[in-house]
This record gives sequence, structure tokens and C-alpha cells, in this order.
Amino acid sequence: MAPPTAIVTGGSSGIGKALVQHLVSSKWQVVIADINPPKEPIADTLFIQTNIVSWQEQADMFKQAYAWNKRLDFVALNAGVDDRDNIFNTLSNDVDKPPSKPNTITFDVNVTGTYYGIKLAAHYMTVPSAQAGKPKPGGKIVVTASGGGIFPIPILPQYTGSKHALVGLVRALATNGAASKANVRINAVCPAIVDTPGLPAGLISKLPPDQVTPMSTITRAFEELANLANVGQEDWVEKGKTGETVEGNVDELIWHHPPERRSGKFVRETGVLKVAQAYEEKAEEAVA
Ligand SMILES: NC(=O)c1ccc[n+]([C@@H]2O[C@H](COP(=O)([O-])OP(=O)(O)OC[C@H]3O[C@@H](n4cnc5c(N)ncnc54)[C@H](O)[C@@H]3O)[C@@H](O)[C@H]2O)c1
Repeated sequence: MAPPTAIVTGGSSGIGKALVQHLVSSKWQVVIADINPPKEPIADTLFIQTNIVSWQEQADMFKQAYAWNKRLDFVALNAGVDDRDNIFNTLSNDVDKPPSKPNTITFDVNVTGTYYGIKLAAHYMTVPSAQAGKPKPGGKIVVTASGGGIFPIPILPQYTGSKHALVGLVRALATNGAASKANVRINAVCPAIVDTPGLPAGLISKLPPDQVTPMSTITRAFEELANLANVGQEDWVEKGKTGETVEGNVDELIWHHPPERRSGKFVRETGVLKVAQAYEEKAEEAVA
């Protein structure tokens, strides 16, 4: 029987690295998928150099990760980057100097790369892995969004938009992910400011220490979302949370729910179903 197996994107540094260490201490085997290798090797891990922006690289990584233990139980889609453009600082008064094409790698990494990961995770979690000791198909996904996935960060609009997109994706995918044959549970963690190499140098020293979120709060958030230490318990997946967004801020876990619809009862209860039905019919027509 193979040990439970996880993939952590961006697992070589910061929050991802701490999660890898936590998983290993709970007897997981972990694939680290990152563009850079970890500074020191971590026991019970397999590093696969991957740029998550590339579908082919991510697909090859998932294939290799699954082949390791013939099972996949948990995926943390954690790799992310901050802004690479500034709309207002690059404006010109000259009508003949329109803006050049902006750098949108932030969306490519944070949104497209993460979406690729969700699609690939759902596949390898659906594949029967009973011979490797996984009793039924299914698994858990946690996406690393950010406080910027809930509140705007004016200096980081690309980051804010992309992290809001992740919260939206998690909320929209959760119900069907759990109901489909993939049997996945998907949630988002939204860290506040955590001291990692991903932050601008010198930022942490500008903050009062009691305003910096310790890594232990983020590890606790992953545990609350995915109950990682108890993998193997009966109905580990089925009893799991789904569609949740939790902010880890200093020593608090703050749960954020979508705003309540203020539109009428019809939209809330029937309209959503009618929309789903129309899109299903459209998809059938496209296939026919
Ligand atoms: N540190 C914070 O305060 C904070 C707050 C909120 C959210 N986050 C989020 O947490 C996640 C981890 O960030 P961190 O602070 O640990 O940063 P970090 O820079 O220490 O770690 C990020 C890792 O992602 C990897 N990476 C970047 N682009 C990649 C790509 N295209 N493909 C594969 N790997 C890639 C990097 O090589 C690095 O190892 C990010 O999604 C970040 O947005 C961080």
C-alpha cells in the first residue's frame, strides 16, 4: 500500500515549503512542483521542475507525480506572483504614444496556471487507485488565494484581480466537483502578510511584528480546510469542507462567505437552475 501522495506547486519556498514540511511530518509523500528547486532537499519529497504556466509542463508533472505512488490525494495550488505592470504610472500625454502590451504573467501564473492544476488534479484524483490503497476516487484541492482575494490591494491590481478570480473559481467549482465522479473538495486559503521570500525585501521590517501572520496560522488554515493529518480516515474526502474561503490573519482564521444575493427569490432558487439547464443544453448541441 502506497502512502498518501500530495503535490504542492510553489513548494520550494515560503508558504509552499512550510506546507510541504507539514505534510511530510504527517507521513505524506510530496511532489514539489516549482520553477526553482528547494534550497535544501526535503526527505520524502520528489522535486519536479515545472512552470505552471505551461500546460504541457504541468501535465507532464502530474503524470510523473501520479506514477510515483499510483495515487493522488491532495493538491495545493500555491504558486503565485505579484504585479508586473502599472497602468497609471506608464501613461503618456502624447496621443501617438499609446501603451505597449502589458506584462500579464500575474494572470497567467495565478489564474491560468492554477486552473490547469485544478483540471489535472481532478483527472488524477478520479483515476481508480485502489491497488495503491486509496479506497475510492476523490481528493482535496486547496488553492492559495490571498487577503487580496477578498479585499482590494490598490498597489497590486493584477494580484487583486487574479486572487479574486481564484476565490470565484473555488466557489463556482465546489458543488459540481463534489457531486461529479471526481469527488473532489476544493477550498481557498487567504493569507494576510506572512514573512516569505515572495515579499519585497524590507517590507516585514516596516511592520509591527504583531501584524505579521505567523506561518503556523497558515498551516492551521490548511488543516482546517483539508484535515491533512487525518488522511486515511473513513470518508476523509466526503466529510471534507468544500467551497470555503478562509483568511489567515495574525492568529485568527476568518471565514468569508459569498455576499448574499439581494435579487429576488426566483433568481436565488430557480433562476440558477434555469441558467445551468440552458448551458447544459447548449453544451449538448455543441457536441451533437
Ligand atoms: N507571503 C505572503 O504574505 C502572502 C500573502 C497572501 C498570499 N500569498 C500567496 O502565497 C503563495 C506563496 O507565496 P510565498 O509568499 O510563499 O512566496 P515565495 O516566493 O516564497 O514562494 C512562491 C514559490 O512559487 C514559485 N513559482 C513562482 N512562479 C511559478 C511558476 N510559474 N511555476 C511554478 N512555480 C512558480 C517560486 O519559485 C517560489 O518557490 C502565492 O500564491 C502568494 O500569492 C502570500
